[in-house]
Amino acid sequence: MTHSTIKQLIQQNHQWAQQFEADNPGIFDKLARQQNPEYLWIGCSDSRVPANTIIGLQPGEVFVHRNVANLVNHSDLNVLSVIEYAVNVLKVKDIILCGHYGCGGVTAALERCEHGIVDNWLRVIKDTYRAHADHFHAIESEKEEINLLCEINVVEQVRNICHTSIVQNAWINGEALSVHGVIYGVEDGILKDLDVTTSGIDELESIYQLTN
Ligand code: CO
Repeated sequence: MTHSTIKQLIQQNHQWAQQFEADNPGIFDKLARQQNPEYLWIGCSDSRVPANTIIGLQPGEVFVHRNVANLVNHSDLNVLSVIEYAVNVLKVKDIILCGHYGCGGVTAALERCEHGIVDNWLRVIKDTYRAHADHFHAIESEKEEINLLCEINVVEQVRNICHTSIVQNAWINGEALSVHGVIYGVEDGILKDLDVTTSGIDELESIYQLTN
């Protein structure tokens, strides 16, 4: 692929905007008035996993947060602000935590060498590995180990989302909100549901349950 200049990218944008309006007359007027997405997507920054594209949604249809290795840390004001806005203001019905196989962040977390500042960000993945060490004994290939950790990381982040006071208060207020964990194959473009959908406080381990 040849490198496009900013000028070319802006030209491409103008063509896209024209085509999008032609295909969906009045779409920009509608989007300018408000956004009304029903989904919050939390995924990896990896360029191969673009949220809208892989689930076939248009501008305005999915609220998106992405970071390295799709992590949801309780001290991360960025992701917490996104979740709060999506749940309390946009009233999304589904939060989709999407990981992907072959994640560079997960791979780096399995290594022992220093990568820089990002190691601090990825440290929680080492904690996850340690907490689930039993699952890794039988695994022989490095690729399998990385991919299993990619899956377990998704499950852990789904839990982290559910443990937030934001999500629990939505449930306490009787809102229909589900949190899903899915994983994407960069090798085949296929999303897999990890079947950890959580839709209520009683599905959480009791130590995390809010009883306001
Ligand atoms: Co990744």
